[in-house]
Parts: sequence; structure tokens; C-alpha cells
Amino acid sequence: MGIDVIKVRGEIPLYGKVRISGAKNAALVVLAATLLAEGESLIENVPRIQDVEILLALLRGIGAEVEWREENTVAVQVPDGIRTSVPYDLCAQLRASNLLLGSIIGRKGEAEISLPGGCAIGSRPMDLHLKGLQNLGYETVLEHGFIRGKAVAPRGGRIYLDFPSVGATENIMMTASLTPGTTIIENAAKEPEIVDLANFLNAMGGRVRGTGTDIIKIEGVPRLRGIRYAVIPDRIEAGTFMAAAAITRGEVILENVIPTHLQPVTAKLREAGVKIEEVEDTIHVRTPADLHPVDIKTMPYPGFPTDMQSQMMALLCLAAGTSIIVENVFENRLQVADELSRMGARLKVEGRMAIVEGVHRLCGTCLRATDLRAGAALLVAGLGAEGESEVTHATHIYRGYENIIQKLADLGAQVSAAYE
Ligand code: EPZ
Repeated sequence: MGIDVIKVRGEIPLYGKVRISGAKNAALVVLAATLLAEGESLIENVPRIQDVEILLALLRGIGAEVEWREENTVAVQVPDGIRTSVPYDLCAQLRASNLLLGSIIGRKGEAEISLPGGCAIGSRPMDLHLKGLQNLGYETVLEHGFIRGKAVAPRGGRIYLDFPSVGATENIMMTASLTPGTTIIENAAKEPEIVDLANFLNAMGGRVRGTGTDIIKIEGVPRLRGIRYAVIPDRIEAGTFMAAAAITRGEVILENVIPTHLQPVTAKLREAGVKIEEVEDTIHVRTPADLHPVDIKTMPYPGFPTDMQSQMMALLCLAAGTSIIVENVFENRLQVADELSRMGARLKVEGRMAIVEGVHRLCGTCLRATDLRAGAALLVAGLGAEGESEVTHATHIYRGYENIIQKLADLGAQVSAAYE
């Protein structure tokens, strides 16, 4: 069976403008939340990526009518009679299928989803999701690899999240929006995608307050109405292009971004010596000859995002000194170090810490992507390496980056896709 390969020739400075697409992690949860509403929703700025296509297939699989309208707009029409059991085969392909738990239970009072497997970066448990639903009066059963939830005495409740889980916060917000009473989420996730979900829920008639802080308050309402809504730009795609511009010593202007969403990434890149100028909804990136080493600790937002950790590791392989990277969010997200070492990088991984001793050059070679952001990191490394690199299993990259080959080629990269 063939595999997707991306070929890239390194050490070519990137120049020009790139338009950042809608955020994968906002589009996925907003599309899941359309199930809460009666009538049609039109979601704009949705990236055409594999993860979104799988989620749309899941919505169709339970009876929603879903179609792409102009370029990046999706229409979702949700009949009352949607099925409450989500097909296993598709759930298994997409971790974010777990977001259908909160939306279907909220709308129908019951739901059955297959427990999305773990993945390359960690076990990905759902205990906090279930704790939240139980505190709202829903009974949850986890057996034979399925999660079943059912309304017993649905009412608003108070939930303290042991960890500010993005998905758990989102599932509780969605269910609570249609559960009578007041719900309080303490130690809630504060990511921009959480705020985007709240804005969507409130536009549909919901009553969600406090997103972006530790405490979120939701007043349940009887019903929500479908609406037209545009999701925010993708801060992780933007950060990935900033790292690509920096490693090639190029000069790139990112368009359609929200600079404040990138504040932790911008701060660290500036520490590394990258010149960054924020002008309204654009970010200008220029990079002098030398990159300085920086230390990075991934944390829940507004800390440094775990989804940018691998891309920064690739960049710091060429810094003039030693950097320390600590991954505090996922238990197994440093494995791209093995592939970077094969390019001549000097890395040492001890538990959740990677010690990156900068080298003068990386050598292009054949590389294997193991997950979405590791794949993106190898692309960044290939752009900064001598000679040609081939990144195999590039389908991981296509899951989360819209038109990545064309966008890089438009910036002057020598890059192409193959199927071998
Ligand atoms: C979301 O995943 C994102 N995915 C991830 O992006 C992102 O890395 C992650 O948040 C952290 O920012 C989407 O939004 C679709 P979590 P999610 O629940 O919700 C533990 C990408 O590359 N945890 O915040 O699954 C968990 O094991 C993807 O775009 C529990 O212990 O992340 C992990 O260690 C990758 N119990 C930590 O919390 C739970 O019930 C963070 O997980 C839930 C989570």
C-alpha cells in the first residue's frame, strides 16, 4: 500500500505572504456543537483538512445533513431524530470524536461513543469528561471500549477539573448549555478555542460567561438555534509557519492571524532572536543570522502550547547553544527527537525533558512522521537542513494543515507531495 511522502529541499529562505486558515481545534468543537441547535448552522473559515472531513462524516453518520458550500463554509442541518450512537470505525480515526459526547447528550439526553484510542502522544483518558457529566446528573458507563451516557436527573452542577483539560471543558460547556440550572466549571481550560466555542454557543442563544478565565459559568437554556459563525484563525498553523520562516532565515508575513493568541510563541521566538512585528491581523517575521538557545516549558494556555513544542525543538536544533524543553501536558510527546537526531541534531531525552545542543547544520534524509505535530516539526527541520528530505506518512500532516504544500511553495520552498 502506498504512503504519502513530502519531499523538501532545505536551506532556501522563505519569502512572501501566507494566509493562515481557520483553526482546526476551533472548527472541530464548533462543528460538534452544531448538534445542539435546531435548524441550519453555517460555519465559515473551516479548514479543508482530514480531521474536519472525518468529523463531518461522523455528523452525517448520525443523521445530520452536512455539505460544503463556498470554499471554507460548511452547512449543517440537524433533524430532531439524530441517532445517539456514533459509529465505531470513524470514532477510532479521530480523537476529537469524543466531543460528540457532550453535544449529543446535551441535545438528546443520551449518547454512545467509542472510547477514542490513545495515540502517539499519550493515553488520552476521559475521566474528567465523565466526572463533569456525572456532576450534571448524567449517568455514564464505560465498558467494552464504549462510553454510554444517559440523563438521570439533569441539572446544573459544579465541577472542579483536576487538570484544565480542553476537551473536558468543551464537553461540559456543550452539555451544560442545554441542561436546566447553573453550571460552574472550576480550573477550566482557557485556550482561545474555548472562548470561540462560548462565542458560538452564545450566538445560538446560549448563556456562557467567563471563558478565558479559570471559572466558567453556564446557564442552561431550553433550546439553541442554528446560526452563521466564522471560527478563529489557527494559532498553531501560524506558529508552525513562524518556525519555518525562522529556520530558513527568511522573511514572511502571516495574514489572517490574531497576534494575542500567539503571545507565548512570539515571546519565545523573540527570545531566540527572531524579529517579530505584529500589525493588526498580520505578523511579520524576520530572522538574523544567529538563533539563540531558549528554554521551553509547555503548559495549558496562556503557557507555551504543547502543540508547538515539536516545531520549536526542530528550530532549536540550529540555535547557537543548548536549549532545555520540558513537556508538561502529554506524557509521550518528545519522540520527534529520534528523527531529528537522524539529521545530525544533538538531542538527549530524559523523561519529559529534552536537552537540545545546537549544531551548525542538519542533514536532509528520509524521515517518518509519527503524529501531526511531529510531522510538522520534521517539515520545519527539512526546510532548514542541507540537501533534500523526505517525510513519509505525511498523511499525519494533512490531518491538520490545509494546503500546506502550496502555501510553502508560494513562499519559495522547493517542496512536493508524492505517493510511493
Ligand atoms: C486538545 O486535546 C487539542 N485537540 C490538542 O491538539 C491539544 O494538544 C490539547 O487540547 C492540549 O492543548 C483538540 O482540540 C481537538 P486535554 P485534548 O484534554 O482536549 C489529560 C493537535 O495537535 N487528560 O487538554 O484531548 C490528557 O491525558 C491536538 O492539534 C486527563 O487526564 O487535550 C493530557 O495529558 C493534539 N483526563 C492532558 O490532560 C481527561 O479526562 C491534556 O489533555 C482529559 C485529559
